[in-house]
This record gives sequence, C-alpha cells and structure tokens, in this order.
Amino acid sequence: MSAVQGLLKGPAQVPFDIMRVAYGVLQVRDLDASLHFYEELLGLRLIAREGDLAYLKGWEERQHHSLVLRRAAEPAVERLGFRVRTDGDLDRLAEWYGERPGSTVRMGDADLHGMHGRTLRVWDHLGTPLEYYVTMEQQPTVLQDYHLHRGAPIMRFDHVNLHSARVEEAIVHWQELGFRCSEYISTDTEPERLTGAWLLRKPTVHDVALTAGRGPRLHHLAMWVAEAGGILRLCDQLGGAHWTHAIERGPGRHGVSNAFFVYLRDPDGHRLELYTSAYYTGDPDHAPLRWSVNDPRCRSFWGTRAPDSWYDESSLLLGPDGRPVPTEEATVDERNQASEVMA
Ligand SMILES: [Fe+2]
Repeated sequence: MSAVQGLLKGPAQVPFDIMRVAYGVLQVRDLDASLHFYEELLGLRLIAREGDLAYLKGWEERQHHSLVLRRAAEPAVERLGFRVRTDGDLDRLAEWYGERPGSTVRMGDADLHGMHGRTLRVWDHLGTPLEYYVTMEQQPTVLQDYHLHRGAPIMRFDHVNLHSARVEEAIVHWQELGFRCSEYISTDTEPERLTGAWLLRKPTVHDVALTAGRGPRLHHLAMWVAEAGGILRLCDQLGGAHWTHAIERGPGRHGVSNAFFVYLRDPDGHRLELYTSAYYTGDPDHAPLRWSVNDPRCRSFWGTRAPDSWYDESSLLLGPDGRPVPTEEATVDERNQASEVMA
C-alpha cells in the first residue's frame, strides 16, 4: 500500500450523520457594499436584515439562509454550518470532538435568525470554526419564479474549500468524521504527497475540499448554478456593471470534479465560486479518482493557469476567542511541481 493509499482509508464508521455543508457566516466591513455585491449583482435572495446581520439564500433553497454576513471591523470567517440528521447527533458529535485534544466544543442555543433549538459550535484541532445544527426555519422556494430570476441565478450552497498547511492530516481527520473522498491531487515524487482532496457527505463531488496552502484559512465558499450559461451570463452582467475586478479566475472547466466555474472576490476579498456540472457520487464503492499534480488538465481542464492570488490569498478563520486563528505555510505547493500548467 502506498503512503497516499494509507491516508485515503475511506470514511470511518461514526455514530452520527452529518448530512451536508449548508451555510457560511462571513464578517464583512460594510454591509451595504456586501449586499450590493451579493444581492443586487449576484442576485442572491435577501431573507432578513437585522442590525449587523444579513441573511441570504439561493433561488432553489428552502432553508432560511445559506450565507450570513456580519458587519465587523475586519473580514474573516466566523463559522461554517453543517446539517446533522437528529438532535442526538449533536450530543454524539460533542462527545467525539471532546475526545480529540485541541478541540473546543460548545453546545448552546442557536443564535442566528431562522434557527431554533440547540446547535453545536466546534473549533476543531486544525482551527476550523464549525456549527452543527438539526433544523432551520423553512422559506418558500422561488425556483420556478423564472420571471423574477436575477444574476446567474445562484440556486444553492454547494461546498467549502479550506486551505490547510497540514493538508494530509486534515484529509485523514475529515475521513474520520465520516467523509468520503471523491477525487484527489498528488505529486509524482517519491514519496507521493497529497496536495488536495475532495470529500463528501451528500452525493456530490464534495462538501469540503482540502487544499495545500497557508492555513488554516477559507479558500472559498461555492454556490451551485443550474447551467454553465448562467455563469457566462453573470460574467456579462459584472462586465456591464463595471465590476470586472470581482472576476478573479475563469470562467473555465475544472479537471477535478468536471465543474464549470468562475471565481469571484467580494468587496472584502472573500472568494466565492459559482459552480455547476459536477456529477453523482452516491454509490458507496465510488473509488477516489487520482489526478497527478503535473497533469495540465487537473486544475483547469483547458490548461489555463490559475493566478497566483488564487493560490496565495484566502480568508482568515476566527477562533473560539473571536480572534483570527494563526496560520502557517504549507509543506507542499503545487506550483513547485514541474507542471505544464504552472509554467
Ligand atoms: Fe470549489
């Protein structure tokens, strides 16, 4: 067994059911500027605005929110929300994290609008701020209100991508939480090193991507768009609105995941991926697909190069004390490899 096969052991049998990643809470400096970007330009639905908080969701979604913006002095990631199946799962998750040194675990009443009952806040030993919850207030879907659609339009929350300095350790940790790997990137060196992995609970390519880079930080949140044409239409709309500076990378097609994508930067630099055309992964014997880091189609199926900002810049995470989690440099960097795409 190779070293990488030893790290990709598959999902552990766990006594709880994490259903999917469901929302992100971002700190932003100017709520009006952020809402101009997310609501007016991208077309997300504003569900509630109260004081320093704004709650948004996609056109298909029935849950109260999938993106929460909080006005604060500095941009940062406050938490990433994951839905679990039952209230008892919260207790079992609290116990699971409690047995792992370096985790901070807080069970308490939900403190976001549209959420009721208990939620479990966790800062894992890698520094990731998480919130597990069971239910959220329902909203009517506006999927078929085609006459009102704006922007791409953005349909639903799809995944998060985390920069990790210790990406191999992080990949093992998330598999121990019950996540399964759909695809991964590794070096052609001896020993082989992982530079990224795509891990799922819901039957899509991923809920969480872990990629090597200065971390822990959030590389991006990703929202699902129904068709590639919607991503192109939104890029045209951003051009028309003189917001070309928001388009960081793409549009293009990923090799990993087969997704059609564009990466945008919001007014605080938080990165949002608009994403479509990935595939079904629900069969339990769906084996992880390997990409060589040297395959020019890996990151961009058409061989186009990602800008350095895409590798170097990410959003800081907030720790249990409300301060940014310290970061460290990764021990492996895709750009150090002899890839044509990096030339
Ligand atoms: Fe992504």
